[in-house]
Amino acid sequence: MNEKKTDSAPAAGERDSAKASGDTFETRRANKQTTERVRKFGEIFTPHAIVVQMCDALERESPEAFEISSTFLEPSCGDGIFVLEILRRKFARCQKRADYTTALASVYAMDIQADNVADTIANIKDFCLDYFKPTAAEAVLICDHVIQCDSLKIMRMLAREDLSHEIYCFPKSKDRLITGRDEF
Ligand SMILES: C[S@@+](CC[C@H](N)C(=O)[O-])C[C@H]1O[C@@H](n2cnc3c(N)ncnc32)[C@H](O)[C@@H]1O
Repeated sequence: MNEKKTDSAPAAGERDSAKASGDTFETRRANKQTTERVRKFGEIFTPHAIVVQMCDALERESPEAFEISSTFLEPSCGDGIFVLEILRRKFARCQKRADYTTALASVYAMDIQADNVADTIANIKDFCLDYFKPTAAEAVLICDHVIQCDSLKIMRMLAREDLSHEIYCFPKSKDRLITGRDEF
């Protein structure tokens, strides 16, 4: 974990109560891996060491890649392991409390499976607690930036510049858009 530079470190006990469910990144992951999911959704999670190597390679190529405000979209986020590594690198650059908000606001993720979306949101919120306690507005921002959808369909729409009503309907946090293949 990187050095924490924040003027709003979580008070003692906040983190524990936030994680009172007992769920962690590892238990969320272990609870859902099945052959059926691998077959249907190609759900093979990337080991953390590989994620680190890939991000290192990107940073070598583009030293500014993980600047606080640079935008990332993870189109098939699984439980968010790439998103967390991206945030880790951005958070390491944060100096002021507002920088953390900027970093959070710069990252977007999609997955076709609802439980992966929920796990990514939970994992981001837990991860933030190592640095700062997200405000209610930041919690909404995280929910709004992690979306259940068929990213292949979105890519095809973008390629056709078919930015129709469906894509403009991107969700408000309580009213999540589910788009893509109807059977999901
Ligand atoms: C190979 S896993 C990778 C997950 C994560 N990026 C990682 O590296 O650990 C693929 C993920 O893509 C999701 N997925 C499969 N088809 C998708 C689609 N059309 N749109 C969005 N997500 C999709 C699956 O639900 C699964 O979580």
